[in-house]
Amino acid sequence: MSERVAPDQVRIVACVGAGVIGGGWVAYFLARGFTVRAWDPAPAAEARLRGLVDAAWPALTELGLAPGASVDRLTVAPDLAAAVAEADVVQESAPEQLDLKRSLLAAIDAATPEHVVVASSTSGFGMTEMAVEARTPHRLVVAHPFNPPYLIPLVEVVGGEKTAADVVTWTAAFLRHIGKSVITMDREVPGFIANRLQEALWREALHMVANGEATVEQIDASITDGPGLRWAFHGPMLTFHLAGGPGGMARMLDHFGPSLLSPWTRLAAPELTPALRERVVRGCADEAGSRSVADLVRERDRALVDLLRVLGKVH
Ligand SMILES: NC(=O)c1ccc[n+]([C@@H]2O[C@H](COP(=O)([O-])OP(=O)(O)OC[C@H]3O[C@@H](n4cnc5c(N)ncnc54)[C@H](O)[C@@H]3O)[C@@H](O)[C@H]2O)c1
Repeated sequence: MSERVAPDQVRIVACVGAGVIGGGWVAYFLARGFTVRAWDPAPAAEARLRGLVDAAWPALTELGLAPGASVDRLTVAPDLAAAVAEADVVQESAPEQLDLKRSLLAAIDAATPEHVVVASSTSGFGMTEMAVEARTPHRLVVAHPFNPPYLIPLVEVVGGEKTAADVVTWTAAFLRHIGKSVITMDREVPGFIANRLQEALWREALHMVANGEATVEQIDASITDGPGLRWAFHGPMLTFHLAGGPGGMARMLDHFGPSLLSPWTRLAAPELTPALRERVVRGCADEAGSRSVADLVRERDRALVDLLRVLGKVH
């Protein structure tokens, strides 16, 4: 059996599923100088993927491409087997449906040499539940990125019950080597870490819209003009540490701790009724105004590049 390459010796990356996230991974791997083999079963997947890469390339170029990086190093494979055959690592980014993930990961597992790590972009499934049909689950691991994966540094890496510890270590080392900020978990944390926090906020936002307590636009402004500015450099913990004044977090907890019992939070998921869906969708359309999704992607990428620069996070 061949040996797994060292994390800094990866040359060929296979990306399976090439939508918003898979396409973003493809762009990032290309920018870091890798040869990328992608596969996606959708009709016209190649044109869509090349469009995604072209849209990401200006920001990636501005941040600095690795020597030899080129969009010409992308091949769209005719089938899954061709995409993964020579890969040093595989990144799966197919739709978030458990049955699909199970059968797809089993198919990737069957087609990929056994020493190769297979990572999934899943936003919330545990690898234990996704790997049930795989023959060699020890090399399957979650590597959960954030949109857009070509600009947001964080990736959450977590194995399932059958994932070998050295696979988690290898994946974290590979991703750090290519410039990612990696959080690893030594056991399967439901929903991972950043995603749990993100979802808690999202749940509250949907409750407020459903109850007519806030508009979509107010929710967005409340974060971008408020706590969101601080969260780019101090997380929620250090932010509240400072809110306690010279006494820091201890004073913060003693002062505001009792109000934790206030019935502000509505931790049960809101029912996604057609009316709520309509209100959120219409609110976003109103807020976006004449800006198309492509305009907003350009606006976001511009702002993220500037922010990464200001924060000294450009690799
Ligand atoms: N969108 C996000 O913000 C985000 C963030 C982090 C992680 N994720 C995760 O990334 C994964 C992909 O999400 P997305 O937002 O890119 O979805 P998407 O719908 O944009 O892309 C999914 C792609 O998978 C392809 N596909 C469908 N069936 C497939 C199959 N059997 N094999 C391979 N590819 C197949 C589709 O054609 C499509 O191009 C999901 O697991 C999701 O939870 C999404």
